[in-house]
Amino acid sequence: YHAPGRLLTTTGDQRHSIERKTSSSRDQAYFDQIFPELVNGLLTNGLHYAELQEANQWFKKVCEYNVPCGKKIRGLTVQHSYKCLVNKPNQDNLHLAGILGWCVEWFQSFLLVADDIMDNSITRRGKSCWYRREGVGLKAINDLLYLENTIYVILKKYFSTKPYYVDLMELFHETALQTITGQCLDLNTTPSGRLDFTYFTLDRYHTIVKWKTAYYSFCLPVALAMYMAEITDTKTHGNAREILLRMGTYFQVQDDYLDCFSDPELTGKIGTDIEDNKCSWLVVQALAKCNDEQRKDNYGQNDSAKVSKVKDLYIELGLPDLYQQYEDESYKQLMELIDKLSGSLPKEMFVAYMNRIFRRQR
Ligand code: FPP
Ligand code: MG
Repeated sequence: YHAPGRLLTTTGDQRHSIERKTSSSRDQAYFDQIFPELVNGLLTNGLHYAELQEANQWFKKVCEYNVPCGKKIRGLTVQHSYKCLVNKPNQDNLHLAGILGWCVEWFQSFLLVADDIMDNSITRRGKSCWYRREGVGLKAINDLLYLENTIYVILKKYFSTKPYYVDLMELFHETALQTITGQCLDLNTTPSGRLDFTYFTLDRYHTIVKWKTAYYSFCLPVALAMYMAEITDTKTHGNAREILLRMGTYFQVQDDYLDCFSDPELTGKIGTDIEDNKCSWLVVQALAKCNDEQRKDNYGQNDSAKVSKVKDLYIELGLPDLYQQYEDESYKQLMELIDKLSGSLPKEMFVAYMNRIFRRQR
């Protein structure tokens, strides 16, 4: 199933996308080179006991398999936001912003390893999910705890002498709890486990995605950069949060659409939302449009013929078009929100984040 193709038709769009590429590939290269430095540091620092050699080797594999292979939108955003916030940042701080970006990627990797177990997923980032690897299985639970706790080792090593150290640490703790709470809602939208659309409302949907995705994917990276830039004012943080939560909602709607309609070759993962009975944006929109007959029987079952029927129905109900409208509408709304709320923060910081994800295919 493919969404109707959309070409960037105007020269403005094309020019924009070329500019986006050149500046961001330099940033990406700078960011990428930090990863091996961090892993090697973790192996020699703190975990250096000879008797832990075996554990260290395993840990290295866990990190290398799970941390560096995503799109790295969140990590790169910390680095980029910091550059937007500080006039002529020095090399040391740029390096630190990159490290903080990697902490977010470590955070993301721990969530994804956990989420794939809970959602019974098969592939992630073009590879087998970690828990499905030969010789891993439920050891993945220990590994995701490894990944989570690594964040605090890195923070301590690089930031413990900074005045904003506690802010960073608290933000990671707070964000973990927010995400876990959202995941709880995501997993319990059908409490009985049976086909029951009672809670599949747009309100419920917005609540789920705010907590399970938007806080950690959007508010966290920018707030970290703000703390590094020593911006602590709660009003400024609050306004940034409002913009970023809206952006995060848009991102999760994209994720839901791609789960169903994208090419797994592009996204690197095979969608499971229909089988898993998820309160996805698509099913919420479909429920608002369909008749009693169309509501019946096919959702939430591990049966590829039924999954295909649901996808056919989505197309029949015009959801691909509706999604395109939603994308365009979201862009417009976001630009207005940015104008209204960015205050002393550089608009460019938010606009760049939005441009990084707008009309994404993966
Ligand atoms: C994919 O991001 C991830 C999401 C769209 C968020 C889904 C939410 C979770 C995984 C939260 C799970 C929560 C718990 C508590 C386990 P992406 O497409 O940017 O991924 P990438 O890093 O692979 O590119
Ligand atoms: Mg999930």
